[in-house]
Amino acid sequence: MTGNTLAIIILAAGQGTRMRSRLPKVLHEIGGRPLVGHVLTTAQRLGADHVEVVVRHERDQVVAALAQDYPDAVFIDQDEIPGTGRAVQVAVDALPDDFDGDVLVLSGDCPLADADTLRSFLDAHRAGEAGATLMTAVVDDPTGYGRVIRDESGGVDRIVEQKDASSDEAAVREINAGMYVFRVGVLREYLPSVGVDNAQSEMYLTDVPGMLRRDGSPVAASVVTDVTVTYGVNDRAQLAEVGRLLNQRIVRRWQLEGVTVIDPATTWIDDDATLAPDVTILPNTHILRATKIAEGAIIGPDTTLVDCEVGEDAIVRRSDATLAVIGAEAMVGPFSFLRPNTVLGARGKIGAYVETKNAEIGEGSKVPHLSYVGDATIGRGVNLGASTITANYDDVHKHRTVVEDEVHTGSHTTLVAPVRLGAGAKTGAGAVVRKDVPAGSLSMSIAPQRNIEGWVEKNRAGTGAADAAARSRVAE
Ligand code: UD1
Ligand code: CA
Repeated sequence: MTGNTLAIIILAAGQGTRMRSRLPKVLHEIGGRPLVGHVLTTAQRLGADHVEVVVRHERDQVVAALAQDYPDAVFIDQDEIPGTGRAVQVAVDALPDDFDGDVLVLSGDCPLADADTLRSFLDAHRAGEAGATLMTAVVDDPTGYGRVIRDESGGVDRIVEQKDASSDEAAVREINAGMYVFRVGVLREYLPSVGVDNAQSEMYLTDVPGMLRRDGSPVAASVVTDVTVTYGVNDRAQLAEVGRLLNQRIVRRWQLEGVTVIDPATTWIDDDATLAPDVTILPNTHILRATKIAEGAIIGPDTTLVDCEVGEDAIVRRSDATLAVIGAEAMVGPFSFLRPNTVLGARGKIGAYVETKNAEIGEGSKVPHLSYVGDATIGRGVNLGASTITANYDDVHKHRTVVEDEVHTGSHTTLVAPVRLGAGAKTGAGAVVRKDVPAGSLSMSIAPQRNIEGWVEKNRAGTGAADAAARSRVAE
């Protein structure tokens, strides 16, 4: 009797040579998460009793990238014996001796196998008597995959790797998806006899089904109809293709939840993002990491949001924001750059060619044009005139600017931090504010204007400006 306990083994020890990368293959990202992170997330959803990740190539880097997000995963080191068979063997050896359940083997480079697909796969295995169940798919181009060879009665006979296949075998279009359920006893019994006598001199996990069959035990196959769930990433072209398929799924999921996506092909939504009903996403927009968008907000076109929070009915167009909070009914863009710790209050505005960083901008306050607001606290109902700049950095330290409620600054005001503008204060155009401004005061800092008449004709004779000045004097 096999209990219903479940162990999931995720294979992630390979180098991924075909990626031609410094980064281990399984750490390449799609949908805002490493490839193997998607597999781990699915494992979490399935609720296994044991989740093991087999590592070897750049193991420290792989473990560091995953340990925090997946605290329940146990990392198992593969030794110098290569191959998927060895990888599973070291993981099985690390399971408690009294574990007698099913082992679901997944690949760290196959991120599209979702929890629903794997749940049906497990159910199919548990409903039958087989010691092993393979996931297979019939594909147009089987290049690179192990082929599933069936006997006369149509049962699974064995798997042949592409590199070991005869031309007849290579012509088979049913492929091994690289996902399996085994009764743990089968793995304990057969893996020790798997050899390395093959084209790659590796211990193939794919030898186990054939060994079972030769002993007269049944091996089942579960043929998936949606072949995309089996897609693995071996090179960068497949990385892009699998990333696109994942995105297509995510976009569709949100569309069915009530989000309008004008152009799914140019809308990229990470798996961790959440969108409310009646959000509208315009073309060429990236909603990344844990970004949250509330009902009725309109995002895009040409916008990137990373880890942002956008309030109800806000509008963000042609802008780039990271770790920013944008309040309800606020307006951002076009061409705004919101850097980390920007908090824009409800009905506030960050307009064209404005950069913000570490700035709290109160309810209904506006920074409409050409400004830099950094390390600042801006109260409510404030209007920072065009090209108001916080000079927050004195080459050594960053300093804070505080602007209290209802302040209006004139165009081209420079706020030299640390400085405070009291409630309701105003500044003249071009003011350079170096000292605090008391509430209700008007601050002007520039010298009185002096016009030197005739200067251009005298000092710039022969230029277009001098000629124009002469003509205008005659006309008077
Ligand atoms: C494997 C299967 C093949 C199947 C395909 C599906 C074998 C021998 N072949 O081939 O039948 O069609 O997957 O995608 O299993 N890994 C380790 N340790 C190792 C070697 C690999 O952990 O020593 C890991 C890799 O990191 C990877 C996974 O196992 O995540 C599969 O390895 P890979 O080299 O990509 O196998 P394929 O050639 O794709
Ligand atoms: Ca592979």
